[in-house]
Amino acid sequence: MCSSLYVSKHINLLHILAVMAIQLLLIRSVLCLNMTNAYLHHKCYVTQGKYKPGSVYEKELTRITHKISSTSDFSKGYERNLDGEGIFVSVILQCRGDSFGPKCRSCYDTALSGLRRRCPKYKGGIIWYDQCLLEFSGIDTVYQNDYDNNFCMSNSNKVSGDKNLFKTRWSTLLDNVTSIALEKEDNDPTLLYGAGQRSFGTYTLYGMVQCTKDVGKKGCKECFSYHIVHFQDCFSDKQGGRVLGRSCNFRVEFYPFVPNSVKM
Ligand SMILES: *[C@@H]1O[C@H](CO)[C@@H](O)[C@H](O)[C@H]1NC(C)=O
Repeated sequence: MCSSLYVSKHINLLHILAVMAIQLLLIRSVLCLNMTNAYLHHKCYVTQGKYKPGSVYEKELTRITHKISSTSDFSKGYERNLDGEGIFVSVILQCRGDSFGPKCRSCYDTALSGLRRRCPKYKGGIIWYDQCLLEFSGIDTVYQNDYDNNFCMSNSNKVSGDKNLFKTRWSTLLDNVTSIALEKEDNDPTLLYGAGQRSFGTYTLYGMVQCTKDVGKKGCKECFSYHIVHFQDCFSDKQGGRVLGRSCNFRVEFYPFVPNSVKM
């Protein structure tokens, strides 16, 4: 699949070998990202405190997480579940737009054990993987943009050449991909997710954006606008980067990292 993108048509054997060696490295990183669902980051909501073993909070959290496992087919890629008998407990799962169904279930299982292990007994916390994010919380933050829990990861290599031109290019690409995400029908399960690519002569840029379902179109747009400005020093001149948050995330790379990206 991903590897076929890189098959060279040159006939010079040495050339092919050299190109393949370099591209194998690239393919490895692409395939690994796609298939192993890499852990990215987590944060324990320390200010919410910890729950006591055997407490109502623990029981409710366990019940809700089991309920998601047993009643969801993960086809919507988004789960928000809260009941709590007299207390507030919320669990949010957002899978990446290309990773619904079994992939989403698998990411949920990984994220659930990952978050429990990294934030033991914390009432709240959030964890990001390549294909999903999972949040527990004892405070209702839904339907509003959360600007406290976000971070940026970028390639340490800088782009060569005109940095302003590069910045214009990735921001245009993100703009276009955001339009894809926002222009979907309300009943489309991949609403608020967009992936696209754009060729600029010597290279192609690949971009992806996604918001969690609860923030809606307006909130989604605001979330991107905020993060693009707030984190621009982190990735504006880098060979790839991403910003992850509770409400929205986006990513730009020089190689394809999600399937079905729209050519623009
Ligand atoms: C991409 O975004 C740019 C800048 O906002 C806009 O001028 C252009 O029409 C968009 N192209 C597509 C294909 O959406």
